Amino acid sequence: MNNRNYDLRQSIYEPTQIMVMRHVNKTYHTSVGKFPALKNINISIESGKLVSVLGKSGSGKSTLINLMAGIDHPSSGEVIINGSDIHKMSEGKIAVWRGKNLGIVFQFFQLLPTLSVLDNTMLPMDFCGTYRKTEREEIARNLLRTLEIEDLSESFPNSISAGHQQCAAIARALANDPPIILADEPTGNLDSKTGEMVINIFKKLVSSGKTIIMVTHDRKLANQAQRILLLRDGILINESLTNAFLELNEIILAKMDSKSETFEVNAGKSMFFSAKERSWFWILTRGAMTLSIEEKNIVTDALKTKLSAGDIIVNSDHVYKFTATEDCQILSIPLPEIISLSNIEIMQVEQVISRNLNTSGVNYATELA
Ligand SMILES: Nc1ncnc2c1ncn2[C@@H]1O[C@H](COP(=O)(O)OP(=O)(O)OP(=O)(O)O)[C@@H](O)[C@H]1O
Ligand SMILES: [Mg+2]
Repeated sequence: MNNRNYDLRQSIYEPTQIMVMRHVNKTYHTSVGKFPALKNINISIESGKLVSVLGKSGSGKSTLINLMAGIDHPSSGEVIINGSDIHKMSEGKIAVWRGKNLGIVFQFFQLLPTLSVLDNTMLPMDFCGTYRKTEREEIARNLLRTLEIEDLSESFPNSISAGHQQCAAIARALANDPPIILADEPTGNLDSKTGEMVINIFKKLVSSGKTIIMVTHDRKLANQAQRILLLRDGILINESLTNAFLELNEIILAKMDSKSETFEVNAGKSMFFSAKERSWFWILTRGAMTLSIEEKNIVTDALKTKLSAGDIIVNSDHVYKFTATEDCQILSIPLPEIISLSNIEIMQVEQVISRNLNTSGVNYATELA
């Protein structure tokens, strides 16, 4: 195959999206009425990524993980994992599918107390009938060796430390070599040092090709992931906002998210924004563009700046011309008064922006203004 054909293939096939959620809603029916736990969730996750799910208690993190695991069904929308429409699968089918495709790690380990660490690790192989019976023990021992707890193979869960129990639970999750690991608060019952160890294990697994989705309350741990999904009251905050303003609390992020708007600009096309617009600032969420400022109907090319994904442009007294050098997506955050931010909240947002302004490599249009 010559290079040209190869390039063509690359452009046709998108990177593998191992997990896709489209317009997912989950409503619980309780004695006091309907409770929407997840609202219009859209997620697309490439394989080989460490993704954290962050949010306050009750924000819907476990509900999200349970939908991804097929433990629960969405009220509406689609959940497509590793190519399977799991929202359409029957309970019986899902159990076998899950055993082969997903490893699940829980906060309280959920190891069977009457089985040794080794037997706990072999359990998923027995359940799914994976590998020959004679091979299972060796595969389990190899996994325990990788997790550095082989010498605890014959021990029972209650006789080993919490950190070692979580390592055993991770070994069990890996037993059938699933492409995806889902972990609900895997460090929630561990001290910070042991929690750090678990994250390091996850990082290694991800570099060997696994996709890991991990729920946590801890922003410092969440920050070590390649992507952060932040939930607030069942709503997924725009990821670009989360990335840019992770140090701010969810209340501010949710206000900024609630009325933000997304624009698409195709490669080669331009778009004008003026100070009269309702935007406070913009985030270039995808693609690349150049930015010029128009003064008295003249676009001042001298001020042309190249922007890439993640860059923030603060609106000021100018007409801005965005020219997409690649297909672009821009998120527009409305003026503080439109989203009812208090003076303190406005200051907090501006502090983050100006702090980043001082770090090199990030472009801000205010520098030009
Ligand atoms: N089976 C259920 N029936 C009714 N309501 C439920 C059910 N499961 C969860 N909820 C509600 O849905 C919301 C989201 O719950 P979820 O367990 O997903 O939150 P969470 O983010 O995992 O919280 P935590 O950090 O405390 O684990 C909560 O308000 C919860 O009370
Ligand atoms: Mg939970």
